[in-house]
Amino acid sequence: MAIKCSAFVAISLDGYIARRNGNIDWLDNYNDSSETEDYGFKEFYKTVDTLVIGRKTYELVLTFKEWPYPDRKVIVLSNGSPVVPNEVLRNVEVLAGPPSELVKHLAAKGSQHLYIDGGKTIQSFLKAGAIQELTISHIPILIGDGIPLFGKLEQDQKLTHLETRTFPNGIVQSRYHIG
Ligand SMILES: NC(=O)c1ccc[n+]([C@@H]2O[C@H](COP(=O)([O-])OP(=O)(O)OC[C@H]3O[C@@H](n4cnc5c(N)ncnc54)[C@H](OP(=O)(O)O)[C@@H]3O)[C@@H](O)[C@H]2O)c1
Repeated sequence: MAIKCSAFVAISLDGYIARRNGNIDWLDNYNDSSETEDYGFKEFYKTVDTLVIGRKTYELVLTFKEWPYPDRKVIVLSNGSPVVPNEVLRNVEVLAGPPSELVKHLAAKGSQHLYIDGGKTIQSFLKAGAIQELTISHIPILIGDGIPLFGKLEQDQKLTHLETRTFPNGIVQSRYHIG
């Protein structure tokens, strides 16, 4: 089976995934405190076997109360040596390289569906044509400045709209096939 790469992100209506300093406090009001609504995340997560996350996103995830991915292989992308605490050592590996090489390497190791996460990371995988599916949850808020989801491209990238769902709190979620 061919390997697939997907991204699943929340962005402000003005296109940012986090404030300049990495803060995602503006998302707090949209996390359903009763946890009955997860905007399709669990369904998506069930389909991925490997997470590929940028070092900055990894460092943010490390500050969470619990490591949220104990049951998945996690690849942290970095040209440095990020700290990997003992409790997550078993399923975390640090790698570096061009997106297409990384995808090839992980496919050879048996991965079938990669979840690509992190702003710069998603941008570089998109630019390399290495992401096939993108789910974006548009949060009805403008934050004015921040880390953008999209960046410069060598050429236009067409997307095919697959579905759009709206939620009572105003979140509009669209899923696209890239290409
Ligand atoms: N709203 C959302 O849904 C959402 C989702 C995910 C993340 N976020 C937010 O996004 C922010 C982080 O995004 P970001 O754009 O700043 O950074 P990022 O993509 O998480 O991490 C960037 C870092 O990843 C490493 N990297 C990426 N590609 C690489 C490659 N091919 N080879 C080697 N290393 C590679 C580099 O690390 P080194 O510098 O160590 O070399 C680079 O500096 C966080 O604040 C997080 O909260 C939001």
